[in-house]
Formats: sequence, C-alpha cells, structure tokens
Amino acid sequence: MTSTVLVRAKDTARRPVLRRGLAAGIEVVPGTAGDHPAAQLFLSSVFPESSSVDFQSQLDDPSYEPSDRLLIKHRQNVAAHLRLIGREMRFGAATLPVSCVTDNGTLPEFRGRGYASALLEAAECKMYQDGAVLGLLRTSEPAFYRRRGWIVCGRHSYSTIGCHQMLAEWQPQETQPTGMPGPARPPALHIRYLRRVELAAIIRLHQTHVRQAYGAYVRNDACWRWLLNRRGFDRIYVAIEGAPEIELDGTFSAIVGYAAARNARLVELVLASRRPDTVQRLLTRFCSDAIEQDLRQVRVDLPPDHPVHAALLASGGTYCRQELDRGQAFMVKVLDPARLVRGLHAEFLARLGADKQFMHRELGFVVGDGQWILDITPHGSRLEAGRVRRTFVRCSGAQFWQMLLGHLDVRQAVQDGLMSVSNRLALESACTLLPPLPLWFPPLDDLPAT
Ligand SMILES: CC(C)(COP(=O)(O)OP(=O)(O)OC[C@H]1O[C@@H](n2cnc3c(N)ncnc32)[C@H](O)[C@@H]1OP(=O)(O)O)[C@@H](O)C(=O)NCCC(=O)NCCS
Repeated sequence: MTSTVLVRAKDTARRPVLRRGLAAGIEVVPGTAGDHPAAQLFLSSVFPESSSVDFQSQLDDPSYEPSDRLLIKHRQNVAAHLRLIGREMRFGAATLPVSCVTDNGTLPEFRGRGYASALLEAAECKMYQDGAVLGLLRTSEPAFYRRRGWIVCGRHSYSTIGCHQMLAEWQPQETQPTGMPGPARPPALHIRYLRRVELAAIIRLHQTHVRQAYGAYVRNDACWRWLLNRRGFDRIYVAIEGAPEIELDGTFSAIVGYAAARNARLVELVLASRRPDTVQRLLTRFCSDAIEQDLRQVRVDLPPDHPVHAALLASGGTYCRQELDRGQAFMVKVLDPARLVRGLHAEFLARLGADKQFMHRELGFVVGDGQWILDITPHGSRLEAGRVRRTFVRCSGAQFWQMLLGHLDVRQAVQDGLMSVSNRLALESACTLLPPLPLWFPPLDDLPAT
C-alpha cells in the first residue's frame, strides 16, 4: 500500500475536496448516499459495537445529510471516516449552535499517516462554515484531540446503588389512617410505560427542563420522534397524577414526570416541579423492574447539581463526578470565539443580575502572550484583543475556555495556584461572570440504537 490516497477521477469531479492534508495526497471528501455501504462496512470493522440498526438510525436522523460524513477513500473503500451532527445546545439563558464529532476512525492499515488529523481539520472548517460556535465530542483518545487544540470540558455525572438497598430506603411506607382529619392528600400518582400518543407530554416536560440546563440539546418534534423510533432506551416510564388512563383532550397535563431507562441505567429523568414525590416513585419502579431482570445494581445519570445524587449517596450509593471515566472524556473546541461570547450575552446579563441601572462591566485576561478584554454592556457582550488594565486574570488558553463554559472553578484554581489574578476585584469579577456550572451532556441523544 502507498501512503497516497487515491481519489477516483469521477469522485473528484463530482464533489469538492474539503482538505488537502498534512501528508501530500491526502484528500478529504464529503460523503454521498453512494458511500453508505462502504461507510457501514468501515464502521463495523473499526467500531465493533456499531450495528446495522444503528447505521440505519443515523440515516433516519431528520437532520442527517450524507455530506455530514467526511471521508478519506482508498479506491472504492473508506480508509478513514468522521461524522458531524449539528445541534443546538442550551447553556442557561443562551442557546448555542454546536456540532458533535463522532465515529472518527482510520482502518488499522492506514493509521499514523495523518488521516484522522486531516479529517478533524476538515471537520473544524466545516463546522465553522455551518455556523457552529463549539465543536463537541466524547472520546477514548483524549490525548489525540488535546494535541489538536481540543480541551476537556464537561464531566461524567452518575450515581450507582444496589437495587435492594435503594428499595429499602426509598419504598414509600404505607401510613395507617388515624381516623383524625388530616391535610388533604394530593391525587394518587401512577407509574406506567409511556404510550406513543402521549409524546407531546414528554416534549413539553423536556422543553421546560432544558430552559434551565447547561449542556442539554434542544429537541424538536421530529427529533423526538426519531429518538423514540431508534430506541437508545428500553423503556420510558411516565408519572401520572390522578387517573392513569389516556387523557382524551390530548393535553396530557396529568403527566408530571418521565424516566428513560436502558438496562440498569436510568439515562434521563425529567420532573415537573409540583410533585416532589414523583422522583421517588419513578426511581423505585425502575429499581423494582431492574430486580425482575436479575440486575443487582442501577446507575442513574443526571446533571451534577441534581438532588437525586445526594439522596442516593445518603442511602448508601456512590457518586461519580469526574473528567475521565473508563478512559472516556468530553472535549470541546471553540470554533468561533467572538460569536460564542456574543451568544452568551443573555447569560452574562443574568449572572450580573443586570437591571436598568447596569451600564458596563469588563474584565481583562492575560492568556499566554495575548491580552483580551471581556466587555459586557446592556446591548451586547464582546471578547476583543486589547491591553488589560489593573484588573485581570492570568491563565492558559484551555483554562480560559473552561472558565467561560463553567467547567473550571476560578476560586479553587486560584487557591490551588493553577492560575492567578491581579487583585481581589479580578477574582470577584471572574467568580461572578464565569461561575462553575453544572455542565452536563445527557446520554440519551447519543446512545446507540437497539
Ligand atoms: C485514534 C485514531 C482515529 C487515529 O487515526 P490516525 O489516522 O492514525 O491518526 P493520525 O495519523 O492523524 O495521527 C496519529 C499519529 O500519527 C502521526 N502522524 C500524522 N501524520 C503522519 C504521517 N504523515 N506519517 C506518520 N505519522 C503521522 C500524528 O502525529 C499522530 O500522532 P500524535 O497524536 O502524537 O500527533 C485511530 O487510531 C483509530 O481509528 N482508532 C480506533 C477508533 C478510535 O478510537 N477513534 C477515536 C475515538 S472518537
């Protein structure tokens, strides 16, 4: 084999070459529908966990275009492959256009020639051109991406607990009626599987939930239908207040929470705030079903600030919140810093508690040899190169983006001597403007189809 990728004349004529890469002759081309069989063959040999069902579900994704695949071809075959998924991510008061990198791989016989690097470089250009401000990925090769300017951002966050242990602590206790008049009881809560016609209730609950989230993806109706069809989960439970029958008026207002599970893993839990006992009922039902399936332990994936983690810990469970879990890390690359900061404007105003009196706030950053000013006015937020004044933070480039995305606790990092501030005002400003956040990427959108 030579190290040159041969792109057939016909291919070259029909589609643009996205990148002539690191080593001479490497050409990255966008995929077409005609590449699907070769791409599927490639994925099954490089990613053994991939399946034909999952490949079909990629094609069924309403946002999918064959050109979302970037390829390096060797004759008829795909030698290296990467796929992009365009999404909108909620970030507190802001909604950010992002792009997720997935299935980046090279056939073993072509590794070490710069193929994956060339694909990633082409992907970053395409994501930027498509309007994404951030690239996101989850990888078992963080060192590879770190060397290409990606930074770790976002942590795994889940609790585990023995099923019997949890049921012993969480099972609702029946109270004996005393005969005395007590406070009015809330309507009974029923837990059962979701019925497809009730999808609108799930969409409504999720929409309310993502308004407060950092890292959750916005899902439109078409996306929800796709998620339901692809079945990255085994079952979705719903909690219904009052009668468990389907509401004929189509509002499904009695559905006050849902939980999506895959085997022993609860992958999504969304609750309407008005019934605090919903979480207990959904989790005990999930746990009882796990016992029926001979599972001994369950895992509950939720954002780091979710109160269920503390409750499970108090019941004898364990909590994992770390950057690296089983070798896997979440990483980001800021593709368009100016647009990212502009896009975060509503969030900055919310953090400053900005009222009508608010005029202006700025903070300087010394990042390596560069100096930057984060400038916030009632009309917009900007990040511009410029000489810092007396109040500034000195940090690395990675730390700057981690701070901006709420991954890094500034106060802790200064205390630990990992970064420095010029004065007390700089520390207080940085803590107000760039607080640590419960940034968390929910698993349901990316679990392989079953
Ligand atoms: C990780 C993986 C994608 C790398 O693919 P690759 O095509 O070998 O990657 P590259 O050739 O671009 O880079 C690999 C190394 O070879 C080096 N390299 C790049 N061009 C080269 C060239 N022309 N000649 C020799 N070496 C070269 C790179 O410097 C790189 O080393 P570095 O990371 O220390 O810089 C590949 O090993 C793989 O498919 N693994 C299995 C799937 C996987 O784990 N994917 C990542 C999860 S998202």
